[in-house]
Amino acid sequence: MLEDIKEVLITEEEIKNKLRELGGKITRDYKDKDDVLVVGVLKGAVLFIADLIRHIQLPVQVDFMAVSSYGASTKSSGVVRILKDLDEDIEGKNILIVEDIIDSGLTLSYLYSMLKSRKPASIKICTLLDKPSRRKVDIKVDYLGFEIPDFFVVGYGLDYNEKYRNLPFIGILKPEAVKPAGE
Ligand code: XMP
Ligand code: MG
Repeated sequence: MLEDIKEVLITEEEIKNKLRELGGKITRDYKDKDDVLVVGVLKGAVLFIADLIRHIQLPVQVDFMAVSSYGASTKSSGVVRILKDLDEDIEGKNILIVEDIIDSGLTLSYLYSMLKSRKPASIKICTLLDKPSRRKVDIKVDYLGFEIPDFFVVGYGLDYNEKYRNLPFIGILKPEAVKPAGE
């Protein structure tokens, strides 16, 4: 697996430090709020949310949503489909959406509007990675891990054809590890 990685973009250590920093900020910002629901977007945000909530010193609830935005390809289709919705009603709750990466912003902008229509008390966005150069729609990121250039990255939850999610760092694949869909 490691032989498929061209370059480590963000190390395990850098991620660990960032988790502490973000968890601290979120704890301070939400300390007077009741009913905080942290919503992880499957599957990419799974490692991030699992580690992040350990640094949030508040009795938050956790739930997950699954949406499809990418098939086997590395390009956004612009089509967002809900594969798994939240388990409970969010009216009056303080929602913190946790994403792995914001690229075009289409996925999150759709999710944001959909959750907003359910009348939560507030909605904020936390993303581990941001590729601002690829943005197609405006999105306000409240908590950001790392801004990255326009590379397709894998690891720490992010996949290529469902693989490499289990790498403990964020890396760039070697071109020979990137095969056209279906091969
Ligand atoms: P949009 O374009 O809607 O896309 O902001 C967000 C989703 O696209 C996936 N994505 C990536 N996945 N490496 C990945 O493994 C990447 O470099 C990458 N860029 C976008 C990801 O699922 C994210 O939630
Ligand atoms: Mg994702």
